[in-house]
Amino acid sequence: MTSPTISEALPGLPELIERCRVALAGEPSAEDAVERLVPILRDLISAGGDPEAFPCGDESYTRHLVHEQQDPPFSLYTMVWRPGQWTPVHDHGAWGIVGVLEGELHEENYCPNSVCGEDGPGLLCHARVALSPGSVVGFTAPPDLVHRSGSPDNGHRTVSLHLYGAEMGSFHVYNCETGERTSYQAEQISHV
Ligand SMILES: [Fe+2]
Repeated sequence: MTSPTISEALPGLPELIERCRVALAGEPSAEDAVERLVPILRDLISAGGDPEAFPCGDESYTRHLVHEQQDPPFSLYTMVWRPGQWTPVHDHGAWGIVGVLEGELHEENYCPNSVCGEDGPGLLCHARVALSPGSVVGFTAPPDLVHRSGSPDNGHRTVSLHLYGAEMGSFHVYNCETGERTSYQAEQISHV
């Protein structure tokens, strides 16, 4: 049996790419970009697909690069998570939109202790949300959202879609004890 192509796995992908190009023409603000693209990502999820086309590694959640381009700049990833797998605490330096295809995706938002009114140089988790299949949420920068994402340890895998206003082969991760922010080259499977 042959693996499905990306267009078979995400049948709404060609339309999403075209609509994103139109929506991002003229370099809208991050807030306007997110407002325009949230319904477009929601439509991609509504178009259905085959989440089984995206495998996941044992050691870590797996990032599948589905589309990226420079003009206008945006990238789309499918991410697959085994139960209990999480990203490090990180930011993207760009706006982003997250949608859930399968399972439940948990998001935790962080802020520097100095901003949260706490002592010390680290970061504190100040908000948690659980996203169910079909949920789509966006975030903007600046100020960039510092967060981590993961799959609850409930025995089920999670498949999510991530649309960013930039290439996202690398991003910044944080040490929550010291507050140190460092560049991070993320592993990914490229389908483009
Ligand atoms: Fe993120």
